[in-house]
Amino acid sequence: MSGSPRLLLQLRGLHPEHIRRLLASSRDSSAFRADELDGVTIANLFFEDSTRTRVSFTLAAQRLGASVVDVSGKGSSVSKGETLRDTARTIEAMMGAGGAGVIVVRCRQSGGAKAVADSTECAVINAGDGRHEHPTQGLIDALTLSRALGREADFDLSGVRVAIVGDCVASRVARSNIACLTALGAEVVCCGSPAMAPGSLTSLGCAVTHDLDGLIPEVDAVMTLRIQFERIGSGGGGIGSEREYRQRYGLTDERGGRMRPGAWVMHPGPMNRGLEIDSGVSDGERSLVLRQVSAGVSVRMAALVSCARGCRQA
Ligand code: ASP
Ligand code: CP
Repeated sequence: MSGSPRLLLQLRGLHPEHIRRLLASSRDSSAFRADELDGVTIANLFFEDSTRTRVSFTLAAQRLGASVVDVSGKGSSVSKGETLRDTARTIEAMMGAGGAGVIVVRCRQSGGAKAVADSTECAVINAGDGRHEHPTQGLIDALTLSRALGREADFDLSGVRVAIVGDCVASRVARSNIACLTALGAEVVCCGSPAMAPGSLTSLGCAVTHDLDGLIPEVDAVMTLRIQFERIGSGGGGIGSEREYRQRYGLTDERGGRMRPGAWVMHPGPMNRGLEIDSGVSDGERSLVLRQVSAGVSVRMAALVSCARGCRQA
């Protein structure tokens, strides 16, 4: 998938130059005019909880002069059974002919953002759809890591090794990061139990290991994933007890102390402190966690401008 200019649904399959352009305009977001999106409506359709993504899309839209409307599951007609498609078409009908707006969608269904894109002419940005992708998070993480490593001039990450640790198979953040980081030349290693990091993940272009202790001293960054309790069924998702999980796959203070000099710690947030990550690591010198959050606003400004322009040209 080469990616229509009005859509940002996934990073997998996007041309590396397209990814680099988005990263460069995120890096240079101060160059956007305050009225860049004057007259454009941004509809935030959030049917799963969010703090970082929802707030940063709102701030980004406001900084570009757009108007913002918020729709969530509770309090909207979704709670009366209206479908995602019908909700999107309803919002589009209020935006004016030709889809003169951007729909930002977070939903439980993998492929939900594509369903919105297929049923409207609006620009559509995937803000996290089920287990599929979270493309703006992938861009945030690539921008933040490139900056930390002094690679933000060209976003060339060749020679850089990144570990993604946790329930990689269920993680939309992992999928977007694998696509983005490997497109920029980095090597990505997914680490978790055989259920969380099965060998089949290698088809995405990453390596797989189950041995976190062996991996820790070998990488330039460790990205720890949140345990997604809301997605784990009654079977426990193969994570075992919380104590066991922390022992095998937690980024503990002890493991943090065995990372390479100059290696970085990342987490997309929200964090389960003391479970997948210890506070000494998440709040320590190596941590990029709050820099990831800060980068969210400029990445979302760049995504909104790119998709809104793509929509006007279509
Ligand atoms: N906030 C990210 C997401 O919604 C990561 C997470 O929740 O674990 O995908
Ligand atoms: N990283 C992320 O998407 O955070 P939220 O779920 O708080 O938006």
